[in-house]
Amino acid sequence: MSADGRPSDEIRPATVHRAYGRAAGGFDGYVRAIPGYHANLRVSASRMGLSGAGLRLLDVGCGTGASTEALLTAAPGSEVVAVDASAEMLAIARRKNWPPRVTFVHSRLETLAEAGVEGPFDGILASYLVSNLPDAEIGLRRLLGLLADGAPLAVHDYAVAGPRGRSRWTSVSWGWLLPMASMRWGASELARFRYRRVRGAGGPESMVHRMERAGFADVRVQTVGGLQQYLVHTFLGRRPDEPDVVGERARARAEAAQEPPREPDATGIEPVEEGGPDDPGYADELPEDQDPGDDETTPPEGTPRV
Ligand SMILES: C[S@@+](CC[C@H](N)C(=O)[O-])C[C@H]1O[C@@H](n2cnc3c(N)ncnc32)[C@H](O)[C@@H]1O
Repeated sequence: MSADGRPSDEIRPATVHRAYGRAAGGFDGYVRAIPGYHANLRVSASRMGLSGAGLRLLDVGCGTGASTEALLTAAPGSEVVAVDASAEMLAIARRKNWPPRVTFVHSRLETLAEAGVEGPFDGILASYLVSNLPDAEIGLRRLLGLLADGAPLAVHDYAVAGPRGRSRWTSVSWGWLLPMASMRWGASELARFRYRRVRGAGGPESMVHRMERAGFADVRVQTVGGLQQYLVHTFLGRRPDEPDVVGERARARAEAAQEPPREPDATGIEPVEEGGPDDPGYADELPEDQDPGDDETTPPEGTPRV
């Protein structure tokens, strides 16, 4: 029992990495059971538009290295610093076959400087990290501070909004993710924690606003394909080229924050263009034929309990 009376292994955002650590051995098997998991990571990494030789990149919350592999595919030959708060997840990542320019560092995002990790980076990928953080906006500010001027951040993460988005999240979670987490990962409690947290965290639009308030420029969002479509998105932003000397961008962000909430389909958020003809579009534009039904908080009938 902890000092505040909570059971010491209760999952909380500040300690979620420990839950990942306890179940690290099953993580790769679990994500292999999610169709498109690795391909979608590569899509997000490629949307960063990384080009040129000798880039220095950061994969924060790298886990067992799936996102590290995606970054290297998007920018072969780059130097990649891959960081995770869980020593057990990192141990699995380290056992894989990596080029010499990849280094793994055991640290939380919050203590990177103490671990000797400093910017500037030419790009950062944060895959399934931000939705795990105690305060997403503070985390995003830390990431902004680690980027070179003009360099991109890709947040690859869950975000669900509106009755349709939440309903799809419920269907996919109870129909697939939670049973797989139980069978392949041995982490039912962590998967249910993630289910509740994503459900309550706000949709893609909220994440875009968080990134803008944190100081990112040109923030755009685009979902991925397959089972994760409309649930997982690439949120792209970049560190502004010029410092905000006269506070113009800060004022624009403050004004945007005061705007009344917009209808999901009238976001004005520009999707990135790299998606091509199969681009599934913006998360809230769930086509009618894919609407999974009512906004359920309980598992859809017939789905296994986990
Ligand atoms: C769902 S895993 C994602 C792993 C990998 N990025 C991927 O795409 O497969 C989330 C990872 O974030 C790590 N994590 C959670 N909070 C963190 C923090 N504050 N700082 C660094 N890593 C953190 C966890 O330990 C876990 O390995």
